[in-house]
Amino acid sequence: MIRVALIPGDGIGPEVVDEARRVLEAVATAGLAELVFGEFPHGADHYLSTGETLSDETFSVLRDDYDAILLGAVGDPRVPAGRHARDILLGLRFRLDLFINFRPAKLRAPRLSPLRNAGDTAIDFVIFRENTEGMYTGAGGRLRQGTPQEVAVSESIATRFGVERIVRAAFDYAKVSGRGRVTLGDKANAVPHVYGLWRDVFTEVAAEYPGIESEMRYVDALAMELVRSPGRFEVIVTENLLGDILSDLSAELTGGMGVAPSANVNPAGGALYEPVHGSAPDLVGKGVANPMAAILSAALLLRDGGATDAAKRVEEAVDAALAEHIGTPDIGGTATTTEVGEWIAAQIA
Ligand code: NAD
Ligand code: IPM
Ligand code: MN
Repeated sequence: MIRVALIPGDGIGPEVVDEARRVLEAVATAGLAELVFGEFPHGADHYLSTGETLSDETFSVLRDDYDAILLGAVGDPRVPAGRHARDILLGLRFRLDLFINFRPAKLRAPRLSPLRNAGDTAIDFVIFRENTEGMYTGAGGRLRQGTPQEVAVSESIATRFGVERIVRAAFDYAKVSGRGRVTLGDKANAVPHVYGLWRDVFTEVAAEYPGIESEMRYVDALAMELVRSPGRFEVIVTENLLGDILSDLSAELTGGMGVAPSANVNPAGGALYEPVHGSAPDLVGKGVANPMAAILSAALLLRDGGATDAAKRVEEAVDAALAEHIGTPDIGGTATTTEVGEWIAAQIA
């Protein structure tokens, strides 16, 4: 049994999580997995009405009573600087120590790629984004705020432990999934301390995997190469902030934010699945949000939960929808969010 905590969150989060849940329920009804759900109201409305972003009590429940979290999105224009979003999303990543942010970029239908006329349509790589360090730890501060002498510092943190475990996870994944190359994305030419450590550790770990090719790229050139020849990439490992940026670029190469899933995991226990996209305030309530990213995130949840056949069925159902041109307007379709979810769920039933 997989105990799933749903955090629909803000904006289009609830719209896409409804559809992911519909698909998971179809999976359960078809006898492909045993699932139980709990729903959590955390997000901007809950914060603005109760003052709770994510309390210690809620955190303990999520940690102890559930196997996986499925989150829609957090972020709301009424909450300046995304305070609740940081507590909820980054809070869960940090407190559950979900150090792997696994972000697959797979082109499921060639017509979805903006590069479709350039010939490189066999895009299928995975980003291993370090998820607990870098610029995201909050280290730093602001002094003399609001004065002409104001100083702001955000420190980038890299530990040998943190870098080594994500680099190793990327190589291990390459090995078990039969992928032949791991690429490091960094900026060691301009930021030598943090990315120097990344290069040292990457080089050491790579030497332990003689069957897997390794290469190091400065992230600016890597961004260029991802557009020029995305098909050559297999596994990309990178630091937190760089991975955030590269994952939106990679999403766009494979059909856009509406189809890009992700998993935040610690192999020793704890997992949070979410679309790469945010709360898309411009789309709320219009029925146009693409639920495929959330549905594919649910497939990752099933896969990690041991329900591999169920995960495969969900991915196949999404592929079938794409083949039949069932989709929301972002991918050239005319269906609503709900229609897409219902179609995919029916395919599984
Ligand atoms: P966004 O991902 O919400 O939107 C970027 C673009 O992609 C927009 O044009 C949007 O319309 C489109 N888009 C996003 N999801 C889509 C979907 N399912 N179907 C079709 N189109 C989709 O990024 P943003 O505008 O920078 O951020 C909006 C808010 O979301 C901010 O508050 C931000 O902090 C937050 N955010 C949250 C998460 C998360 O919870 N994981 C991730 C990213 C951004
Ligand atoms: C993501 C998001 C988050 C991040 C934001 C909302 C803090 O952009 O999951 O990609 O930067 O990690
Ligand atoms: Mn992002």
